[in-house]
Amino acid sequence: MRDIIIVGNWKMNKNNAETKAFFEEVDGVAKTDKGLYGVGVPFTDLRTALDNAENLIVAAENCHFEDSGAFTGEVSVPMLEELGVKYCIIGHSERRQMFGDTDETVNKKAKKLLDAGITPILCIGETEAEYDAGKTKDVITAQLNGSLKDIPAEAYENIVIAYEPIWAIGTGKSASVEIAEDCCKLVRDVVRDMVGDEAADKVRIQYGGSVKPGNIVEYMAQEDIDGALIGGASLKPDSFIEIIEKTK
Ligand code: G3H
Repeated sequence: MRDIIIVGNWKMNKNNAETKAFFEEVDGVAKTDKGLYGVGVPFTDLRTALDNAENLIVAAENCHFEDSGAFTGEVSVPMLEELGVKYCIIGHSERRQMFGDTDETVNKKAKKLLDAGITPILCIGETEAEYDAGKTKDVITAQLNGSLKDIPAEAYENIVIAYEPIWAIGTGKSASVEIAEDCCKLVRDVVRDMVGDEAADKVRIQYGGSVKPGNIVEYMAQEDIDGALIGGASLKPDSFIEIIEKTK
């Protein structure tokens, strides 16, 4: 049986004071032995988040795949490791669309993170045009084949895959429960084809896209949905607390 993992993604929001206040309000609520709750925070908030986290897990929102070098503005995996970061979001569609992340760079980041014992939360998902053209399966399969290339089966228990249809992100237009489950099952089936049953049964798959307190329970009731990656509704302590309380 897979443990649930529900992670907020703050994106480029919150300063250190706001981070501390969030953790003071939410961290205690996240105490449970049934699963994991946490937030992805900007690099500048990582220290504060980690210092104030007893129950919530803390994720970085990106990393570079090289250890060091002339990469102005980037943050390496050893730097995250030194801070004590254990989770890192990679390949979010905003990074793929605006900052040039590709399946190839996401693959390098995933391998580097796994080598450092940091769990990648690897995002994939199709655009609205691809969805309308019936290309969801092809797009997801290509993204998974590229992003997870040459990663051995035994690593998958430490990988989280976030299926986020781009048309559902920040739009309030969440995927229906049926579409979300079908696509998360598809993700698991692609992993099964790539590396076998054991890895497919162990990998944790999240749905992301306009998840909120009002719809989290029905997503979490689906067989292949093990968690959620939550943007807007993770910013307000009250709504994230509601999400935790409804699922723990
Ligand atoms: O990483 C989170 C996703 O981009 C979802 O964002 O919950 O605001 O739609 P959202």
